[in-house]
Parts: sequence; structure tokens; C-alpha cells
Amino acid sequence: MREDFRQFHAALAAHDDQSINPSANPTLDQLVDRGRRNLLKGGLGLAALSLFGGVLGSRVAFAGSGLLGFEGVPVQTAADFDRVLVPSGYTARAFFSWGDAVLADAPAWNPDAGDDWQAQLQQAGDNHDGMHFFPFAEAPERHGLLVINHEYVNPTLHPAGMTFEGGKRPLAEVKKEQAAHGVSVIEVRKDTAGHWQRVLPSRWNRRISALTPLAIGGPLAGHALMQTASDPAGRTVLGTLNNCAMGVTPWGTYLACEENWPHYFVNRDAADFAQRVAHRRYGVGNGERSKYYAWETADPRFDATPDAGQPHGGQVNEPNRFGWVVEIDPFDPDSTPVKRTAFGRIGRECAVLSLGADGRMAFYSGDDAKGEYVYKFVPAGRFDAANPRANRDLLDEGTLYVARFEAGGTGRWLALLHGENGLTAENGFASQAEVLVNARAAADQVGATPMDRPEWVAVHPLSREVYVTLTNNDARGEAQPLDAANPRRENLHGQILRWNEKDGDPAATEFRWELFLLAGEPPGAKDLQGQALPAHLTGTIHGDIFSSPDGLAFDGAGRLWIQTDYGDAEPAMQAMGCNQLLCADPVSREVRRFLVGPRGCEITGITWSPDYRAMWVNVQHPGLSYPASDGRSRPRSTTVLVTRDDGGVIGA
Ligand code: FEO
Ligand code: CA
Ligand code: CA
Ligand code: CA
Repeated sequence: MREDFRQFHAALAAHDDQSINPSANPTLDQLVDRGRRNLLKGGLGLAALSLFGGVLGSRVAFAGSGLLGFEGVPVQTAADFDRVLVPSGYTARAFFSWGDAVLADAPAWNPDAGDDWQAQLQQAGDNHDGMHFFPFAEAPERHGLLVINHEYVNPTLHPAGMTFEGGKRPLAEVKKEQAAHGVSVIEVRKDTAGHWQRVLPSRWNRRISALTPLAIGGPLAGHALMQTASDPAGRTVLGTLNNCAMGVTPWGTYLACEENWPHYFVNRDAADFAQRVAHRRYGVGNGERSKYYAWETADPRFDATPDAGQPHGGQVNEPNRFGWVVEIDPFDPDSTPVKRTAFGRIGRECAVLSLGADGRMAFYSGDDAKGEYVYKFVPAGRFDAANPRANRDLLDEGTLYVARFEAGGTGRWLALLHGENGLTAENGFASQAEVLVNARAAADQVGATPMDRPEWVAVHPLSREVYVTLTNNDARGEAQPLDAANPRRENLHGQILRWNEKDGDPAATEFRWELFLLAGEPPGAKDLQGQALPAHLTGTIHGDIFSSPDGLAFDGAGRLWIQTDYGDAEPAMQAMGCNQLLCADPVSREVRRFLVGPRGCEITGITWSPDYRAMWVNVQHPGLSYPASDGRSRPRSTTVLVTRDDGGVIGA
């Protein structure tokens, strides 16, 4: 029997749109008086010469500093826009789509043949997201490994969509969905004609899914909070979920990040749920079913309702085993990926590196939900290029910080350390393990600034200036009061913030920040009825408009690439057209549109060959029949390869 799946589709459509931060942290408006804040804002450029473009920034006219060398492409508002548009002189081609072979024995993609989860385990997963190109040392410009996250799955995974039979999900459907999550590692090479190709068979190609055994590393390895009936030792977890954005270490490993994992679990015990911070503060389901796919009806591992009759309360701790950074060594296909628990447990969008000249590091993370926080993890040790083995477990020890963005452009990193800043047993934190598992609650306790859904972070390759996308937050002004870093009520379009750590030190505990831009249409823009748009729908962009910045990355020359994620059918988004990739000059602040994707998609995930002459971009969940890598017409999440027809550097 086919049951109604609308609630699940609605949950997916509202993907990462949760608002469950109940904390009452003081806002900037409460901390500092408005007039003083405005005064300081005007003086920021003088106060910090090397910051925010510094001296250069004040001299370069809006025309730009020459970083943006391409002709921008227009907004695409047609309801049936079904291709990938790039500037003249560039070519985009489908490179790697859901269902493409990853392992040499993978059967040909045949989505109508039934739910063959074993086949899916050998093929590309769904919903391509963050990714990175790792070059081989002997031919870095021609040969590498592309590592790609598969964030979640669409109903189109199955011939007849997602179904229930007798109140349960069919196991074959659930297993296929689990197999389509995770990460792909694929070998890629430039052929003799100069075209990038996928290599098959390859000794490096690998699929990691929601079924792959992974190790738990760091302070939580073996801890009681990680023990379950299915893993009494608390050291091995099956799989990784909702891998959104990512990070890269200086020693050449990939960091897959676990974002919307709470929606895969349910705790049906209302009394237990009410007191279990590790579930409630993250939005684990507490109704009849989990929010996304009801896997628990077929796979009891996802039923986190406590069961006193089973060891370790059954699977009540299983949700504690997600929300981490997963370190993967792409060059060792036999290695076991490790969940690095020193990073703390959040709805983790990304873990982006800043590397200091002295080998000290910071990894920045957004926690993407309404009113959540920006974090950084500072490893205790330093990167040692001369001794690769010394770097192997650097991510298991360090300090987790959360950001407070103060009025006037100052900011502070607040350490989440047991015994400090009120993180004591009296306040519900019996140990550092509890601080890490309940990092959101710890951040509430220390007074972090609730943000408008922090997504990706990007670090400038030379200055180490840090940028973060705050994608949007329609609850701003109600659930979370306005403040200087989150200044618009009902913020539908989002903003980009940037900051500089004190003395350029990634490990600093103080920084200076400013708004880089508010997204949206220009002030004075009118809606389709000719009425002036309200202020919360207008922005400060110089150049091409966009909404809801999400993906964010610098190329080697310091161009800032911005990817968007909004519902392109929403009334407020109609002027924005389909989701897109833009490029910004951090000095002149000009933004120019580079690529537009097909209707219904999100553009997310970006990486380059080391010479920046090949760029890969992901088209996630296209709504129309975007032609995928095999030329067939079923909508498929796809990695797109963009090259310049004259072989030049992308964007230059
Ligand atoms: Fe998966 Fe916050 O985007
Ligand atoms: Ca994202
Ligand atoms: Ca998003
Ligand atoms: Ca997405």
C-alpha cells in the first residue's frame, strides 16, 4: 500500500530550515547602544589598515581591481530553464551524475529497474554537495582524486518514489537510500587531447555510505555517551549522514561534515525527550516518525527511543554519533574514516582550514539552523610538513570555540571547555565529553551570537581573512532579536560577513568583523505589482543580485565564489531566477554572475585543478530534465566541469 509521503517531502523542501535555539543570549543591541555602534562602523576602515581590503580597498573604484575577467550572465527567470549557463568563451559539461559507476563492477545506471541497493553502493550517490580535488604529486595539473559529498536523497531515487507498506518503509528502499548517502572518491585525469575524464577501473575509487563502518576518534572514543546496543564499545559507527560542505587538511585528507542528521532519528518517549538535551536541542524527531525518511520503521538503529530492556538503552545514544567531522584519506582506499569528536557535535556545514605561518591551525564551521552559531576548532599541535606521520591524529586534541560578534566590529572566540565560562556540572555539563556532545547547549551557556543560519566559510589564500555565508533566517526579529551582524528582520536573502583574527593568527581569541554584503535586490527595487520592496528584501550588492548565499570558496588568486540555495519558486525569489554561482572581488566588492543552473536545483560544492583551468561545480537536485552525464533525461544531481575554451584560468 502506498501511503502519503507529503510530510516527508515538506520536510525535505524545508531542508535545514529549523529553528530550535531556545537560548536567550543577549543580542548586540542589548550589549551596546545603537549610536555608538553606528559611529564605530564608520570608523572601521581606519581602525584596521590591513583589514577588509585595507588601503587598497579605499583606492580601487567600483569598476574593480581586475580580478573579474569574464562577461557576467543574466538572471534566468523562465519556468522551464533547464540547462547550465556559463559566460561566453566557457563550456560546462556534465561530468559525474547520480548512478554513474564508481567501482569497476558497478552495473549500468537503471533507475527504473527496481531498488538494487547493492548496485547503488557501487555507484555515485545522490545530491552532490561539497567536494575537493586532491592532485597527485607527480602530475598535479593532469591527475587527481575528486572527493564528493552525497548529502541526502530525493524521492526520484526510486521508480515509484518513496513508499510505505503496512506502516513501514520497504527495507530495499531504505537500504538504497542509505547506500546513496555518504561520499564518492573518483580518480580523474586529463587525456592526451586535454579533456578531463573519469578513470575506471581505479584502485582509489571508493564509496563511503550510511552503511560503511567508521571509527570514532578523539575524546568521545569509547565513551559511555557513544555506546549503543549495536556498538557496546562505542568505537565504531555505521556510516556518515547528510554530508553537506567539507574541509581539507594541510596533510591531504578530506573532512566530510554531518549537517542535518537529527532528522534521521526519532525518540517517541515524550518524557525522555523533554529532558534529553542531546536530542531536544538538535531537533531529533519526537513525533511518531523521524522527519526525513522514517528509516526507523525498517532499520531499528534509527529508533532512538530509550529501551531499558536493552544494553545502553538500545539506540538512544545513536544520534550522539552524528554531527561530527569525518576525516577521510582519499589516497588510502583501505583506510577507515574517523569521526573527530574534539570538533564538537553540531549541525555541521563545513570545517574550513586557516593555516598560520607557524603551523598553527583553525578549522571554521557553520552550524546551519536558524539562530545557531559559528565555531572554530584549534588543534593543540601544529602542522609539520616535514613529518607527515606526526599530523595523523592532530585533530583529536584541541580547543573548540564559538563566536560572539560584538557591536562596533569587535568579536571574541569563547572557549567551550569544561569548568570554564559556566560549563560546570551545576549547569548540566558534567565533563568535557558532555560539552562536546551538547556543543550547542554549551554555546548557549557561554553567550555566543545567534546567527542567520551559518553555512560555508572561506579563508582568503593570502591574507587569511575569513568569510562566512549567513544564508537567510525568516525568524530573525521574532525568535532571534536583530543585532549588528544579523541586522534584518524576516531575513529572506541572507548576508556575507568577514573578519580578521587578531595579528592574523588562526588561534587568536579576538577578531574584527564587518558585513561584506547584504544579499537581495537593490534599495528602491519594486515588486511585480510596482510596489517598493520592504527594506528586509533589499540588500547592498554592487553588481549582480542574488539571494541566500550558501557555498563559498576562494580560488588561488583571491576571487570569492558564491553559490546560492533558495526555493526558486518562492515569490520573494522570482527576480533572482534559478540558483547560481557568482564571483566577487573582495577588494572592490563587485559581484558578477558566472553560472546559472537549471530550475529547481541548488548550486553547491566547488573545486579546481591546481592551475585553476578546470572548475567542478555541483548541480544538486535539479527539478527539470537536466541532461546528465549519460545524456539521458531523468533529473540527476550532477558534478559539472567548467573549462575556458582558450584553456585559460577560470574567471580571470
Ligand atoms: Fe546542506 Fe546548510 O546546507
Ligand atoms: Ca549548504
Ligand atoms: Ca542551504
Ligand atoms: Ca542542499
